[in-house]
Amino acid sequence: MRYLVFAANWKMNIGPVEARQYMRSFLDAGELPSGRGVWVFPPAVSLQAVAQSLAGQEHIVAGAQDIYWEPKGAFTGAISGALAAQAGARKVLIGHSERRHVFGETDADTGKKMAAALAADLQPVLCVGETLEQREAGKTLAVVARQLEAALGTKTRGEVTIAYEPVWAIGTGKNATPKDAADVHMAIRRWLTDRGAKVTRILYGGSVSLKNAEDLLAEPEIDGVLVGGASLDPHAWAELVRTRSA
Ligand code: PGA
Repeated sequence: MRYLVFAANWKMNIGPVEARQYMRSFLDAGELPSGRGVWVFPPAVSLQAVAQSLAGQEHIVAGAQDIYWEPKGAFTGAISGALAAQAGARKVLIGHSERRHVFGETDADTGKKMAAALAADLQPVLCVGETLEQREAGKTLAVVARQLEAALGTKTRGEVTIAYEPVWAIGTGKNATPKDAADVHMAIRRWLTDRGAKVTRILYGGSVSLKNAEDLLAEPEIDGVLVGGASLDPHAWAELVRTRSA
């Protein structure tokens, strides 16, 4: 049986008080089906609340949405990998499209953040994806390969998790078709295995919802989903993580 990952990216929503209520509702919905993992990425202020709610859970873990690459010091507003880990993060998103396009994060920044994540024992989830303009110009694979190389270098470590999130699909209600996503996932997987990655997990993100999750997850290339808007309600999220899969 395939292991499927359901990752919730809360973005700038759900403070610590709400996070405890959310996790209570989500966990009250019952045990996860076997062969599934849930990764929750709350805003940094809610990390500890989420992590504490997850004590004793094996397949549900918390992660940070971003870290800065320096280990500590005078960097107002930033958090390091070690601080995120201390608050209970086990994972971290690196290079999310909003970090790149709203906050101006560069490919080189993602490389430094990947290294910082590994140094802090956080498992990185590297986000890649093309804009609509790049897709229409036929540059999707070139853009994704450039983002992979900048973040991972030419040799990859044993285990890698990538989230393929086409920028035009994020928060727009327009998801990539399972076939479109699968084509890019296949190219990413080839890129990674050519460079020595052993276990690769590639999630799809961009307007995933209760309506399209089953079709997306039926595609063998898609190992899970990274979900923004449709993860904000604990009841709907509890339903989404129980999506039937072929
Ligand atoms: P969305 O966001 O599900 O709201 O499109 C996904 C993401 O940005 O990770």
